[in-house]
Amino acid sequence: MTEERLRPPAAAAPGVDLPTGRSAAEPPGLTAHARANRAAWNRDSDEYQERHGDQLRDSGGLAWGVWQVPESELGVLGDVTGLDILELGCGAAQWSIALAKRGANPVALDLSDVQLSHARHLMVEAGVSFPLVHASAESIPLPDASFDIVFCDWGATTFSDPYLTVPEAARLLRPGGLFAFSGYTPLYRLCLELDQEIAGERLVHDYFGMHRFVEDEYYVEFMLPYGEWIRLFRRNGLAIEDLVEIRPPADASSTYTMDAGFEWARRWPYEHVWKLRKEG
Ligand SMILES: C[S@@+](CC[C@H](N)C(=O)[O-])C[C@H]1O[C@@H](n2cnc3c(N)ncnc32)[C@H](O)[C@@H]1O
Repeated sequence: MTEERLRPPAAAAPGVDLPTGRSAAEPPGLTAHARANRAAWNRDSDEYQERHGDQLRDSGGLAWGVWQVPESELGVLGDVTGLDILELGCGAAQWSIALAKRGANPVALDLSDVQLSHARHLMVEAGVSFPLVHASAESIPLPDASFDIVFCDWGATTFSDPYLTVPEAARLLRPGGLFAFSGYTPLYRLCLELDQEIAGERLVHDYFGMHRFVEDEYYVEFMLPYGEWIRLFRRNGLAIEDLVEIRPPADASSTYTMDAGFEWARRWPYEHVWKLRKEG
């Protein structure tokens, strides 16, 4: 893969579980790429948390992307007090833990049981409690219109098929609800050679038709052309409020990427946050 990188909602559905071990059964009905990504994340989770956990924790949990730009600067989620929030691909749930401390009601979902075991550990350490859901963002075992915010920071939306995940997010939102997600940009994707960790200065892939990328023999990632994203959002009743293109501050550092990644991101948009509003 790219090395860049309480209270339950009104009705908790069947299929919600809080795995007690590190080897929970595979969630039912996974797509082939979700099965591959689950195996990869279970394999790499400990190393990921070892490498990036401190950065994610030191930023206080409420910070976006590879350079952990504070939510207080970007203002994507806004005031979360009392809101029902679903995190898609929560990892060790640093975001959801921070949101719970701010008075929100998070539910944190991930495909990897090992990532969820890290989440459970950090929740105990932080003294907060909320539901963990072991499922794929492509098929979420939760009822329609149960959340005010669905979001993730380089979470499931990077690794799941947008044609499955975007309709799921829209289904789960209440009218007026917010869907926000970060990840790399189409431009970055186009400049990233397979099996390279940093994008170069030339377009490597075709723009038209881009969809599924097999990063190495394990991780599968997804990206669409801008027009496809926009049509997909609109088909699912999601109005675009913003596309926040993150430029790292000149003194930024990151455990996710090397100097070359930083230099690239100072010149071109490396990561961004879509901010979408459910109509109705
Ligand atoms: C790069 S991590 C990001 C997590 C967290 N925001 C962080 O910064 O550490 C991506 C997460 O997405 C999860 N994931 C990948 N595909 C998923 C899917 N289809 N459904 C739910 N979670 C998924 C992975 O297990 C992993 O925990």
